[in-house]
Amino acid sequence: MTTTLITGANKGLGFETARRLVEAGHTDELGARFVQLDVTDDACVQAAVKTVEAEGGLDVLVNNAGIEVRGENNSIPPAVDTTADEMRTVFETNVFGVVRVTHAFLPLLQRSEAPVVVNVSSGLASLSRLSDPDSPAHFYQAVAYPTSKTAVNMITVQYAKAFPNMRINAVEPGFTATDLNGLSGTQTVEEGAEIIVRMARVGPDGPTGGYVDVDGPLAW
Ligand SMILES: NC(=O)c1ccc[n+]([C@@H]2O[C@H](COP(=O)([O-])OP(=O)(O)OC[C@H]3O[C@@H](n4cnc5c(N)ncnc54)[C@H](OP(=O)(O)O)[C@@H]3O)[C@@H](O)[C@H]2O)c1
Repeated sequence: MTTTLITGANKGLGFETARRLVEAGHTDELGARFVQLDVTDDACVQAAVKTVEAEGGLDVLVNNAGIEVRGENNSIPPAVDTTADEMRTVFETNVFGVVRVTHAFLPLLQRSEAPVVVNVSSGLASLSRLSDPDSPAHFYQAVAYPTSKTAVNMITVQYAKAFPNMRINAVEPGFTATDLNGLSGTQTVEEGAEIIVRMARVGPDGPTGGYVDVDGPLAW
């Protein structure tokens, strides 16, 4: 039996990932169960560790919870509007949340025979893409969200080196219609969850320390 914890699984890509992994046989015959988990809250995360530990441990962690700050009418805020407070809010969930949850669940993951971590990053994390005037992502002018996902990529690289017995990868689901972007994404959640599910299911000989989308490795 493989037990998987997905943060932010009540909707969007996390919910679809949970649905697919349950279908594939992750977790027990009861299917998915809900664990209260606010990734910005130490006490809440510690309580979730106790709950998951009492139920037998953890094999796969999917750090999926994420937020993006949008302006009026779902507009992408320009760099001139970026404030330290906005950065802090986005980093609290997208970056510190990933570290808080991963750090807390490391002891359980280290007890697993095939531990896996998937960090849900973004194509907007790519310094190569956002600095290339010919890239379709170049237009994206907001600062907080892409910066947070670039940090997620570096967290992935450093954790993958630190824990060679684990498979730890960052994934880009692609532009997917979810509440995050006011349903403006061009993919369905089924399409977006594909790479999350695939990297959640890698075996002990699978890749680690990568940044991938459904078609393969991406430029950092
Ligand atoms: N959609 C895209 O085009 C796209 C592209 C690239 C990457 N991503 C990434 O994919 C991931 C999932 O996003 P989505 O598109 O599925 O958006 P979504 O539908 O808005 O889902 C985001 C999920 O994160 C949860 N969440 C937010 N803050 C949280 C917190 N502090 N603690 C625990 N859970 C929290 C939300 O729960 P509540 O609703 O309860 O707050 C929700 O379940 C995010 O990391 C996002 O950055 C999305």
